[in-house]
Amino acid sequence: MPRMAQRVAALGTTIFAEINRLARQYNAINLGQGAPDFDAPPPVLEAAVQAVRSQLNQYAPNTGLLEAREAIAQHAERFYGQRLSPEQVLITAGATEAMFAAILGLSDPGDEIIVFQPVYDSYVPNMRMAGVLPRYVNLYAPNWSFDPDELAAAFTPRTKAIIINTPHNPTGKCYSRRELEIIAELCLRHNAIAITDEVYEHIIYDGGQHTRLATLDGMAERTLTISSLGKTFSATGWKVGWAIGAPELVESVNRAHQFITYSVATPLQAAAATALNLPDSYFESLRAEYQRKRDKLLAILRGAGFQTFTPQGGYFIMVDWRAAAPEHIQDDVQFAEWLIREVGVACIPPSAFYRAEDKHRAAHLARFAICKRDETLEAAAERLAAMRVSSG
Ligand SMILES: Cc1ncc(COP(=O)(O)O)c(C=O)c1O
Repeated sequence: MPRMAQRVAALGTTIFAEINRLARQYNAINLGQGAPDFDAPPPVLEAAVQAVRSQLNQYAPNTGLLEAREAIAQHAERFYGQRLSPEQVLITAGATEAMFAAILGLSDPGDEIIVFQPVYDSYVPNMRMAGVLPRYVNLYAPNWSFDPDELAAAFTPRTKAIIINTPHNPTGKCYSRRELEIIAELCLRHNAIAITDEVYEHIIYDGGQHTRLATLDGMAERTLTISSLGKTFSATGWKVGWAIGAPELVESVNRAHQFITYSVATPLQAAAATALNLPDSYFESLRAEYQRKRDKLLAILRGAGFQTFTPQGGYFIMVDWRAAAPEHIQDDVQFAEWLIREVGVACIPPSAFYRAEDKHRAAHLARFAICKRDETLEAAAERLAAMRVSSG
């Protein structure tokens, strides 16, 4: 019987699959995984249909359709004043492939990459598969800020890169300009690359601003910016993403990308061009709609007795569940399972975003997804209200 490779055996299976399975089994309202239960904007859907009907069904160029790369470059200029040529844009199968190709293309086995914990769940497995060692720096509640000394101490002569996810999953933290300046200064001092994951760049609350690390002094040539279509256009299943930055960085990522996927779904790239060229009003209404949903879910979760951490951006609200759950529950995984079985609502246990020895840091937390229709949020509210009565 052939055996699984050690490279993947140690990775285990993701908690997301397990939560989705349980949620289906118990017919729970799923506020777990970050996928909208509403559709992409009609002009974007129409553009994809048109592209399929216009014989755009063969391989795209390896780095991406020119019109899509131009649209990505124009989007970067419109929102962040970045000037990029289409050669500085690589289209990938979502931000997920961009990150893996970036790690493979920019680091060697034995190198170290710094990540902030809680850490989005694909980064460290990507590093392990590449033979790269993670170095962890903690984000501390309630503001999910980091200790600059702890960060400085994580840099070593083997540090190749640091990954920054802003707005952040799962906490909703948006790194401030000051925090990014601290990171930039350390990258410059240690000659390290910054890889940013900005998939939630357009989902920002309370009039806040998304700051792009690549636009800080000295960072353009050492920052690879990753983003994707999924969150901004409610099309997570399309898996169209990109990596942008200095030509040498992008070329390094493409060296890996060309032998992973080679290229990405052609008609969806054509639709990506339409999406990214939508007027400012689209991006403004997306932000307003998410603000409304965030406020609605915050009120629901507070009403259910949870202590909430107000997110500054992104798809999720973190809560401390201890005041609202029965006393026998010991940790976040037990809480998430109990909530599905007994209340009929699914959330994600955030210990999935911590390494084994730090999972206790998230034992009292749960992550709920904002990106749902009002009806879904209201149905969850009804069930959570019933929880309050029975556990209180
Ligand atoms: C921080 C972060 N990065 C990347 C992704 C995945 O992006 P994509 O679907 O474009 O691969 C997600 C999706 O949840 C995410 O939260």
